[in-house]
Amino acid sequence: MSNSLDEFADRLQEQIHQEIIQTYGEKVYERWRSPRFGGRMESPTGYGRVTGSCGDTMEIFLRLDGDTVSDASFTTDGCGCGAVCASVACELAIEKELKEVADMTGEAILEILGGLPEDEVHCAFLAAETIQAALSDCVNRDAKS
Ligand code: FES
Repeated sequence: MSNSLDEFADRLQEQIHQEIIQTYGEKVYERWRSPRFGGRMESPTGYGRVTGSCGDTMEIFLRLDGDTVSDASFTTDGCGCGAVCASVACELAIEKELKEVADMTGEAILEILGGLPEDEVHCAFLAAETIQAALSDCVNRDAKS
């Protein structure tokens, strides 16, 4: 009895995963399965927190080594796509100079992911906006010190 229940659960899970791949593509699926850079950072050099028009809030934490981002992490109470986009934003920022991070756009995040369904495109722009907020915080703190 429990074997057939386990098999049913496995088949159902596989079906769900296949539907996610069909809808969002392999790149989003892989990042959703193995999220990177998630979690709060203690004593960041810069911190951004933005609530998007969808009502979800994203936070991005940056640590600098001189003018270069040495570490980045994120949290979000939003959708899986938002977490994937924030993860990509962190990945794109690490080991980049501040001026390079300043050029990061939602389009760049979408390009890495091979695009998103229209209803989720805004998640990439929320991630870009949040990393820009964290970057501004870095610059403002630097100006005050
Ligand atoms: Fe709000 Fe994706 S971050 S719907």
